[in-house]
Amino acid sequence: MAERLGVAIVGVGGAVATTAIAGIEMIKAGSNSLDGLPLADRDVAGMVAYRNMEFGGWDLADESLGTLALRHGVIGEKELADGAAALNDMRAWKAAGSTGYCANIDGSNKMATGHRAAIRQIQDDLRRFTEEKQLDRVVVVNLASTERVPHADDAALQSRAAFEQGLDSDDAAISPAMLYAYAAIDAGTPYANFTPSVAADAAPLAELARIRGVPVAGKDGKTGQTMMKTVLAPALKARALHVDGWFSTNILGNRDGLALNDKDSLQSKLNTKGTVLDSILGYPVEDHLVHIHYYRPRGDDKEAWDNIDVTGFLGQRMQIKVNFLCKDSILAAPLVIEIARVLDLAKSRGDGGVQEQLSSFFKAPMVKNGHGPEHDFGKQQTMLLDWLGVN
Ligand SMILES: NC(=O)c1ccc[n+]([C@@H]2O[C@H](COP(=O)([O-])OP(=O)(O)OC[C@H]3O[C@@H](n4cnc5c(N)ncnc54)[C@H](O)[C@@H]3O)[C@@H](O)[C@H]2O)c1
Repeated sequence: MAERLGVAIVGVGGAVATTAIAGIEMIKAGSNSLDGLPLADRDVAGMVAYRNMEFGGWDLADESLGTLALRHGVIGEKELADGAAALNDMRAWKAAGSTGYCANIDGSNKMATGHRAAIRQIQDDLRRFTEEKQLDRVVVVNLASTERVPHADDAALQSRAAFEQGLDSDDAAISPAMLYAYAAIDAGTPYANFTPSVAADAAPLAELARIRGVPVAGKDGKTGQTMMKTVLAPALKARALHVDGWFSTNILGNRDGLALNDKDSLQSKLNTKGTVLDSILGYPVEDHLVHIHYYRPRGDDKEAWDNIDVTGFLGQRMQIKVNFLCKDSILAAPLVIEIARVLDLAKSRGDGGVQEQLSSFFKAPMVKNGHGPEHDFGKQQTMLLDWLGVN
């Protein structure tokens, strides 16, 4: 019988999660094609089929996923009637959340407090999900709202032993995102972080994943503006067009935008967005500005503008303008699906620790051995196809 993969999503009621689930359910029902899925035309031995994926997960919101999806406005009544009806019968498991880490987002669907109790609960949920859906394997993907940046010098984040003590004492330095990541890694379940929050990249958790041989990847999905940046910057470098400045701005009106409307959550996003350019070009772009604005009328239809000032031959100056009118979740959902399939394949191949071959999917790719991440989209794509064995 074909292998069945469970995807347990942190933030399962969100716009990206419900779009991913709807897309797969509609593939099963025959009302969605494989268009827009980056690895659909690659025949990779051992990679789970899209129609053999099952979903579940945690959220602070206590409504059916169908109701939540309608509110996000990405899929509508038509999709719910046309294959994605399964969302109406799905509800999120109780979540570990903290307004101390995500000021603008709260909800009633919370598990009992206490770090150790939360981890036990998350691991119980994974076991129950596996049994109920008769799954062969499970992966966990973080699609929850962006948390504030933790204080890097907090004692609990300095070593594995200190982290364990922090779990015992409910140390506030340990965020909800870290609890989910710890629970997954400790259960031997592959884990990916599609958000900018600090999770499996916290030093004690990255070390735990390495020692236990559990595949992990992150962080912050590279979907729109940053994807374009990492495609354009290598070309500008190759043509010796010096980047004098790069002004990037975004408007978005979904709940992700609301979460980022808190300055501390926003800082997490700016941190992951800010690093790619200098690393690709090999020199600092002093005037690299990135702005994100919550603008409700646009909902999930994010608009990104980029103005790039470059200097070429004979010192002549030129400008490039990029205007990406995208659909945030429509870009993100297929990446989440592919990340889950590749992470699962890594587990089947016995490939543990950080999965660098997934770099093309992330704004701030995690790396294994302390070297700088590869941001160049073309090189990242080659890395992925080489690892898959289809290049
Ligand atoms: N293109 C994209 O959409 C894109 C790109 C890169 C990264 N991301 C990141 O992906 C994440 C999801 O984006 P979205 O547009 O679906 O956001 P969303 O606000 O629609 O969904 C987030 C969900 O997480 C839930 N949540 C918050 N804290 C939680 C917790 N502690 N435990 C469980 N659930 C929790 C919320 O209730 C909400 O349902 C965000 O962090 C976003 O920054 C999105």
